[in-house]
Amino acid sequence: MSRRSEAVLAVLTACFFWSGPILCAAARSQQLNDRPIIGVLAQENLPGDQFAAGFSYIAASYVKFLESGGARVVPIRINRTEEEYTKLFYSINGLLLPGGDVDIQTSQFSRAARIFYNLALKANDAGDYFPIWGTCQGFQQLSVLTARKNLLTLTKTKSVALRLTLTPAAQSSRLFRSFPKDLLQTLTDENITSNFHRWSLSMQNYSRNAKLKRFYKVLSTNSDGEKEFISTMEAYRYPFYAVQWHPEKSPFEWIDKPGMVHSISAVRTSFYSASFFISEAMKSQHRFSSPAEEDKALIYNHQPVYRGMTAVFVQNYYFD
Ligand SMILES: *[C@@H]1O[C@H](CO)[C@@H](O)[C@H](O)[C@H]1NC(C)=O
Ligand SMILES: *[C@@H]1O[C@H](CO)[C@@H](O)[C@H](O)[C@H]1NC(C)=O
Ligand SMILES: *[C@@H]1O[C@H](CO)[C@@H](O)[C@H](O)[C@H]1NC(C)=O
Repeated sequence: MSRRSEAVLAVLTACFFWSGPILCAAARSQQLNDRPIIGVLAQENLPGDQFAAGFSYIAASYVKFLESGGARVVPIRINRTEEEYTKLFYSINGLLLPGGDVDIQTSQFSRAARIFYNLALKANDAGDYFPIWGTCQGFQQLSVLTARKNLLTLTKTKSVALRLTLTPAAQSSRLFRSFPKDLLQTLTDENITSNFHRWSLSMQNYSRNAKLKRFYKVLSTNSDGEKEFISTMEAYRYPFYAVQWHPEKSPFEWIDKPGMVHSISAVRTSFYSASFFISEAMKSQHRFSSPAEEDKALIYNHQPVYRGMTAVFVQNYYFD
């Protein structure tokens, strides 16, 4: 046996006995899936959305974000059966929980997120790598799913660009390790991460909750002047990533308001975030049962609606 295959065998053996999905996937990463498909979860329409057709939407910026990293997208509609979600889970290579404004405990969005989260825990535990990315509301949703309660608190972060305060753990994190050094420096020096949230997970509540503390490693924090909150985290043992800020907005949203940043560094940050997440999705070997099934599911079957330059989302997809 070659030294390399011996090493791989050793890691695979170790992975079955004690480690977890992260190391298991590292051992198998020779066979990357370079045609990854990401599911993006739809959510209940914003009240009073004059462009709405059907009862749910996906902002197109999340789709473009994933496409920029080399993935195709499948919309995950709300209000579907658990069987349908399970079948879809084993057809896709990752899940993105987008930002938005629904109830993260009672909405159909939160119901579907819970079903996929539980499937992802189970799959990863069995060595079946499946990454999840949560942005803004998606971050908050992940915190509620892990803590099994809502520990969020109101902050003054509705429309502001901030620089990240990286923790010592950031340097060795899977997410930020993949970023160029100069970009990490810019992220810590300049206000280039877009924040559009009222709710945050404070360091205080995170630290006091054993479930959250055991599950997530804090990679960056921010403050609204009063409360220190978590802006980036990744799970220790699962390929789950959460950002309270919006990497997808810099290249793909154009509403003119404080907090929006279109600088070269902000756009690069978006790209490296997407590229990292898609590199994780490439470790998943899930696929649709046939090319025809895949074809039918892809978002190319839907047309985004242009909502105007003053809209919070410049284009949305709408679904029943
Ligand atoms: C959700 O599904 C149920 C039954 O499957 C249906 O009665 C209900 O109208 C649906 N809700 C929406 C918003 O379509
Ligand atoms: C902690 O969580 C509770 C909800 O359980 C919330 O009411 C409170 O504002 C939070 N406090 C901080 C400092 O985050
Ligand atoms: C960055 O944002 C903070 C918080 O809003 C602000 O106090 C600071 O002046 C900003 N820095 C620059 C260089 O704009």
